[in-house]
Amino acid sequence: MRYITVALAKGRLSKLAIDIFIKAGLQCEEMTKETRKLIFTDEVNKFKFILVKASDVPTYVDYGAADIGIVGKDTLLEEGRNLYELLTLSFGNCKMCVCGLPQMKGRLEHINNIRVATKYPKIAKEYFEMQKGQTIEIIKLHGSIELAPLVGLSEVIVDIVESGQTLKENGLTVLEEICDISARFVVNRVSMKMERQRIETLMEKVKEIYGA
Ligand code: PRP
Repeated sequence: MRYITVALAKGRLSKLAIDIFIKAGLQCEEMTKETRKLIFTDEVNKFKFILVKASDVPTYVDYGAADIGIVGKDTLLEEGRNLYELLTLSFGNCKMCVCGLPQMKGRLEHINNIRVATKYPKIAKEYFEMQKGQTIEIIKLHGSIELAPLVGLSEVIVDIVESGQTLKENGLTVLEEICDISARFVVNRVSMKMERQRIETLMEKVKEIYGA
């Protein structure tokens, strides 16, 4: 039997994602321990688990280096790869929003070529240019996005808001909501054909526990 490889996003989703597979009966407890290992094997059920940066999960699944991935809808929208989105999961819930200082409320429409700091240039461009017909200047950042409007790097940001704590502690507010985000179970298109039965069996178990 061939191994089925699962790509899990390191970071905020990883604990919950690992928990899915433990509850589904796979042997991946080793991943919950403090370790620098990046690949784990369940010899009994013939599964491999790899830990990758969240934004790289769609890449691994698209190329077939992983058959399955657990990743946020934000990353899927941004990476825009052609994967099977098999299941919406009930965790990783947050919103993609335009945020800024409170005095920006109601002013966005009146600013030309608004500067938008974000980790999500594609989502930001699509929202402003396609949906609102507004040209923007993207300032690509990799983290601590909320800092940008505070130091004058940008007028607004496009980022995920979960608890709202980061915004609150930095005196920012949601100006506009773009879309809802949650974790997704994605599958490589060829794997879906080749390993349909094993993938669907796993998906059914996951659905019982974490289906949205
Ligand atoms: C994310 C996001 C916000 C924050 C939102 O950052 O970019 O900064 O979480 O969560 P909250 O509404 O619950 O405060 P992350 O923690 O992934 O770190 P980063 O700044 O390195 O991107």
